[in-house]
Amino acid sequence: CDVPEIRQSLLQWYDENKRDLPWRHKANHPDRNERAYAIWVSEVMLQQTQVATVISYYNKWMKKWTTLQDLAKADLEEVNEIWSGLGYYSRGRRLHEGAKKVVNELDGEMPTTAEQLMKQLPGVGRYTAAAIASIALDEPTGLVDGNVIRVFCRLCMIGADSNSQVVIDKLWSLANTLVDPQRPGDWNQSVMELGATVCTPKTPACSTCPVKAYCKAHTQVNQEKMTVTLKL
Ligand code: ADE
Repeated sequence: CDVPEIRQSLLQWYDENKRDLPWRHKANHPDRNERAYAIWVSEVMLQQTQVATVISYYNKWMKKWTTLQDLAKADLEEVNEIWSGLGYYSRGRRLHEGAKKVVNELDGEMPTTAEQLMKQLPGVGRYTAAAIASIALDEPTGLVDGNVIRVFCRLCMIGADSNSQVVIDKLWSLANTLVDPQRPGDWNQSVMELGATVCTPKTPACSTCPVKAYCKAHTQVNQEKMTVTLKL
């Protein structure tokens, strides 16, 4: 892979085309700890819910519980009330439990690495830990979710079954190779953004893709078309 070129092209595209989403306003959370909390909330909401739906829930949640301390003082009923309509209520409950743990057992300080986030926070798995660490804390760690799987499989022509653990491990290692150490959070979000808006499951918009020149799947399809053209 042409790693530096891919990073540069995709990040430039992201800078010019990214959606304006409330959790992307870093200025609202100048403090690292509170930024980690905000990204934690947004990523948990985004796990099984579309971006368009999450926006208003995220804004409501952050208005009600602006800090971890606020959330730790809430009771579960209020949490369920705010969560109502989002589904998978255990997600909200675990956020609440996690906030109480951070405030009561960790001196109010969120764990500061992906590894510790995953170890210490209930419901925080490999993906969420990497998202919080890269987006809020600038840890140069890659991540893999459904959109990322599709983008990477196309980009690098990985044809194997992405349900297999071997392939998933390969994708995580590819994610860690590709992640831009200067801008890990923007990089990870740029891959997810590309998957959500351009490199879609059906009829991807390859003509507008910033990394089509480096995409093995795209190149191969063009070559097939060329062969057909030559045969005619
Ligand atoms: N899906 C999950 N997290 C996301 C993020 N931070 N940006 C875009 N899509 C996402």
